[in-house]
Amino acid sequence: MAVDPRAKTNPRTIVQMVVVGVIASAIGIALGLAINWFPVQGSTQSKKIDDLWNLMLIFAVPVFVLVVVVVLFAVKEFRQRPGEEKLDGPNIHGSTKLEIIWTTVPSLIIFVLVGYSATVLSDIEAAPANAAQELKVDVYGQQFAWTFKYTGVDGKPVNTTRLYLPNHQSVKFNVHSKDVIHDFWIPAMRMKIDAVPGITTSYRITPIREGSYPVVCAELCGLGHAVMRQTAYVLPPAKFKAWLTKQSQPAGGGAAAGGGAATAAIDAKTLFTKGNGNSTACGSCHQLTAAGTPAGGIGPDLDTALAGQSAAQIKQSIVNPQAVITKGYPPNVMPPNFAQTLKPAEIDALVQYLLKNQKK
Ligand code: CUA
Repeated sequence: MAVDPRAKTNPRTIVQMVVVGVIASAIGIALGLAINWFPVQGSTQSKKIDDLWNLMLIFAVPVFVLVVVVVLFAVKEFRQRPGEEKLDGPNIHGSTKLEIIWTTVPSLIIFVLVGYSATVLSDIEAAPANAAQELKVDVYGQQFAWTFKYTGVDGKPVNTTRLYLPNHQSVKFNVHSKDVIHDFWIPAMRMKIDAVPGITTSYRITPIREGSYPVVCAELCGLGHAVMRQTAYVLPPAKFKAWLTKQSQPAGGGAAAGGGAATAAIDAKTLFTKGNGNSTACGSCHQLTAAGTPAGGIGPDLDTALAGQSAAQIKQSIVNPQAVITKGYPPNVMPPNFAQTLKPAEIDALVQYLLKNQKK
């Protein structure tokens, strides 16, 4: 029997594969490192996690390139040529040398990546040197809003829907759920963990940058999952202390902290379409022609649902949405916390705005 010419690879082809592979890997790694994959780095944890990502990428790109290049060259090199229709495939007995290589190299890569990952994990979870200085915040997930519980300066609990954090101070979140599984995530801080009914989970972060960052629920938890979003504010430590002190004082202190000019005219349309930066926007779930919000939301169409409603009824539907459920819509979808995320004056402005745009 004639020796199958396809049993041997042309040495020139191997050189070509190596050259193509090296160039493609270099381009792939450069591109991968140049792409801005993540939001701004908001915590000491972010840097370490991003470095780990970059290392993974440096290893992953050449593996991907290797597989693709070998497949493409094999298709070209070993394709069936005219006259080869009747030939059997080449008779191959395996190669011990190859098997040793393709077992050893991936094992080494895995050891390096697992080792580095373990170091990063223990690093980002480590308690700070002076644990007494650490701020502890209890996080409660509930369809479809987060609540945060601090210990006030007087030792009494402070509950809020705005997450305030002091810059450069380690914070430990103890995460709870009051109903189903949620997932507490601040993308800029990189850390996230499930909020599971019946158990307490936790993670820590140390903010490194003042500013406001989205807080997101990252576990599909029901119809309102997409609107389970709030904001974390990282403040200078002194400002944070002042805020916490203010929260501990007896009621009567006026508008919520960080609110700015409470007396300024309230733009109810903007409030409806965008929220106030802390509340969910009505228009993300409700159609209202006057506000230009689209049909097909998960909440009742306000062009029709408002008909015949009094101011008191509209207000009740905002602050206590479970009281009356519009026919055809499921209960427990609308966030129950508008009485906390909106100021009283904002709720009144919304009620007036909706009354004005009520279709008779
Ligand atoms: Cu809570 Cu998704």
